[in-house]
Amino acid sequence: MPVKILMVCLGNICRSPLAEGILQSKLPNDLFLVDSAGTGGWHVGQEPDRRSILTAKNRGVDITQQRGRQFSKKDFDNFDYIYVMDQSNYKNVIALTSDATAKSKVKMILNELFPDQNMDVPDPYYGGQNGFENVYDMLDDACNLIAEKLLSKHT
Ligand code: 4NP
Repeated sequence: MPVKILMVCLGNICRSPLAEGILQSKLPNDLFLVDSAGTGGWHVGQEPDRRSILTAKNRGVDITQQRGRQFSKKDFDNFDYIYVMDQSNYKNVIALTSDATAKSKVKMILNELFPDQNMDVPDPYYGGQNGFENVYDMLDDACNLIAEKLLSKHT
């Protein structure tokens, strides 16, 4: 059984697809399964935003096979680790369960880099390509630490 990690944002087309692709690229895929989802349902079935696809492609990560899906309560059982991009994602996800074990799986992804600061990965949707590059850099740094931890704990 692989260790399962879920990346969550609002639309599942900008930030969490990047986080999924980046973390996946740092872990052996026979031992770890990385997925992503959005708290909102507007982009279900869609490819990631073309700006996310381009940013990832420039860094050697292919996210074109991903399709948007909405976070569901079942994800609390299916996944071992749930990383959210911002405080609003955190509130929306936590609101779907009253179970303490489920809640304890949910972490703000930038707390890996800046413990207890609850910093948001900014939503790049309404900006330009620069915002996506900035988000990529933050997620790459956070995923380096996450991958290191996961590999030392589970391999
Ligand atoms: P994401 O960005 O949460 O990083 O995927 C967004 C994409 C789309 C929308 C909001 C955020 N939207 O409202 O459609």
